Amino acid sequence: MDTLRIQGGAVLAGGIRVPGDKSISHRSILLGALGEGATRVTGFLDGRDCLATVGIMQSLGVGVERHSAVDLTVHGVGLHGLRSPDGPLDCRNSGTTIRLLSGLMAGQRFASKLTGSPQLCTRPMDRVVAPLRKMGASISGADGGGTAPLLVRPAARPLQGVRYAMPVASAQVKSCVLLAGLYADSATTVIEPGPTRDHTECMLRGMGVRVVTEGRRITLEPPQRLKGTNVAIPGDPSSAAFLMVAACIVPGSRMRIVDVGLNPTRTGLMDALLQMGADIRVENRREAAGEAVGDLLVGYAPLRGAEFGGDLIVRMIDELPLLALACSQAEGPSRIRDAQELKVKESNRILDTERQLARLGAVVQGTEDGFAIDGGSRLHGACVDSCDDHRLAMLLAVAGLAARGETVVAGAQVTDDSFPGFAETLKTLGGAAERGPADA
Ligand code: S3P
Repeated sequence: MDTLRIQGGAVLAGGIRVPGDKSISHRSILLGALGEGATRVTGFLDGRDCLATVGIMQSLGVGVERHSAVDLTVHGVGLHGLRSPDGPLDCRNSGTTIRLLSGLMAGQRFASKLTGSPQLCTRPMDRVVAPLRKMGASISGADGGGTAPLLVRPAARPLQGVRYAMPVASAQVKSCVLLAGLYADSATTVIEPGPTRDHTECMLRGMGVRVVTEGRRITLEPPQRLKGTNVAIPGDPSSAAFLMVAACIVPGSRMRIVDVGLNPTRTGLMDALLQMGADIRVENRREAAGEAVGDLLVGYAPLRGAEFGGDLIVRMIDELPLLALACSQAEGPSRIRDAQELKVKESNRILDTERQLARLGAVVQGTEDGFAIDGGSRLHGACVDSCDDHRLAMLLAVAGLAARGETVVAGAQVTDDSFPGFAETLKTLGGAAERGPADA
């Protein structure tokens, strides 16, 4: 087990690029595998979650050629070219892998078992099992289908296209249903309660699939084929978010984060911080492989507390604990509502954020659906725990940068799930961060 030691107070400055987008990296492998011909991927996230997806697709007979840690070619086998794996498909800690894969496996003519870490096996899977069963898939899981391992058997007849209104706003569920819809006998429509990330739809369109979005309704026509494509993966806005909030709350900081994905379904945190008075500018706005990209210029500025809820929450789901931290450093109270989904992420991000940030002196009170935050907390260094959640580990490190004294984050190896090189990145920016074995 590793710890991350942070000495608070150092000004953060300079230019940086963050690792590739996790969501798009997963999709480049899963969809590239179904393409005819090669899919060339640049900027891939060489993190543990995405490598789980690579390993699984290789065990399904897909060639993945690594040119470097971040550049690769997926040799697509076509919609019907996957082959039966030798053993269970290990999704490790990755919710995106297991939920998207369940939709893909539902359309195959062979059986598969989808499993993962003990942590993943506690997360809700009924949200994908229910719509897949509606489509005629044969899928079962532990606890009556509520959790992994999931067992997917070939269905007696082809999957049926459905019209599915999702009870929760989830890009993973939407993508699962759309992937199963590739194998259905008629069109599939997903209706989403909020604007979830649309990377699956963007990439499918780039591969020649007819996917029509009308407001909150997404309809996919089952294609004959998917064609291989080029995917230029931008920096992950959810990783840039840690640096962005660090710059906002550590006095004197100023940084440029280049090549960050700016898909509007992902920019909720930036909008929330701007509402609080943050100093954030976007430069070099452009488009790459169907996704918006740009450079972020972020500087320290005093923040004001505010209230957040509704669609904005969906557009910043993974960044909400960071917003809570920023609010704890703002002037005046803040409230974050409509964020119940945080309870079923890699950790219970309402409870664990409250508990761990409290050790550092932040008054961030968990509520039934989010956080109630007192502004103006003075942070002090402390020993805290990642709770085996990559985003919680990095949140605590950012809080440590703004605290007086030393913060020690236990279980810091989990940052490799989504942000390999996190500690080095902080150091490049002038932060005092040291990662090492727990007993060092
Ligand atoms: C993701 C969707 C979100 C997000 C996760 C990645 C994706 O999950 O929290 O980190 O790549 O589709 P939900 O769909 O469960 O909200």
